[in-house]
Amino acid sequence: MTEMMDIDGVAKSFTLHLRGGTVLPVMRNVKLHVNTGECVVLGGPSGAGKSSLLRMIFGNYAADAGHIHVRDAGDMVDVVTATPRRLVELRRRAMSYVSQFLRVIPRVSSHDIVARAAAEGGLDAGAAGSRADSLLTCLNVPPSLWRLPPATFSGGEQQRINIARGFAVPRPILLLDEPTASLDAANRQVVVNMINDAKRAGAAVLGIFHDEDVRDQVATRIVDVTQFKPQ
Ligand SMILES: Nc1ncnc2c1ncn2[C@@H]1O[C@H](COP(=O)(O)OP(=O)(O)O)[C@@H](O)[C@H]1O
Ligand SMILES: [Mg+2]
Repeated sequence: MTEMMDIDGVAKSFTLHLRGGTVLPVMRNVKLHVNTGECVVLGGPSGAGKSSLLRMIFGNYAADAGHIHVRDAGDMVDVVTATPRRLVELRRRAMSYVSQFLRVIPRVSSHDIVARAAAEGGLDAGAAGSRADSLLTCLNVPPSLWRLPPATFSGGEQQRINIARGFAVPRPILLLDEPTASLDAANRQVVVNMINDAKRAGAAVLGIFHDEDVRDQVATRIVDVTQFKPQ
C-alpha cells in the first residue's frame, strides 16, 4: 500500500476585500493521508471547508500554511510550493479533479471537452476520440448531445460531462466534489462503479458525497473536517 497524498498543517482563510478586508478563517492544522486503493470521504456540514480543501490539493486555491504532498511516480511533490509548470505536470499525470459544477470554454462540444481531456492525458487523437465515445456511452449521454456544447444541458447532463472529463484518462489520484449530487439512481450507480473500478486499479480517491447510499458504497474511511475548524 503506497501513500499517495499526505497533507499536514494546512490552514486556509479568506480575506473578503469587498467586506472591508474581513478575514474568514476556514480550516487550520489539516492532517490527512490517502493510500492507493482507498476512498477517503470528507464529512462535515456545508461551509466546513471540504470543497476548499479539494481546491487546495488541486492547486486552485493557495494554502496559507502547511504541506500538501502528492505522489508523482517516485516523487512526493508539495503542491503548496510547486512551480506552475510542476503543477501542470501533476495535473497531466498524477491527479484528476471533478468539480461540483461544470466550467468549460463556450462553444466547445461535449464530445470535444472529453476528447481534449483525454488528449491532454497523453492519448493520440484517435484514441482520445474513442475514449470520449465510450465514456459518454457508459454515462448514458445520448449521442444527439455529443456535438452540442453543454451550456444548455440539464444539471445532471452537465455533471456527467464533468465526470467523463475527470475520468478521461486513469490517474492515480482522484478528487471528487459531489460528483453524484444531481444524478438519477441509474447514473449514480454508474459513477459508483467507475469509482470502485478506479480504487481496484489502485487509485487514491478523496471525495465529498452527501448521498449516504453512495457514501456507503465507495468509502473506505470517513474524515470529519469539523476537527480542523479554527477556534
Ligand atoms: N473564494 C472564496 N472566497 C471567499 N470565501 C470563500 C471562498 N471559497 C469558499 N469560501 C468560504 O469558505 C467556507 C468553506 O466553503 P467550502 O469549502 O465551499 O465548504 P463546503 O464544501 O464544506 O461546503 C464558506 O464559508 C465559504 O463561504
Ligand atoms: Mg462543497
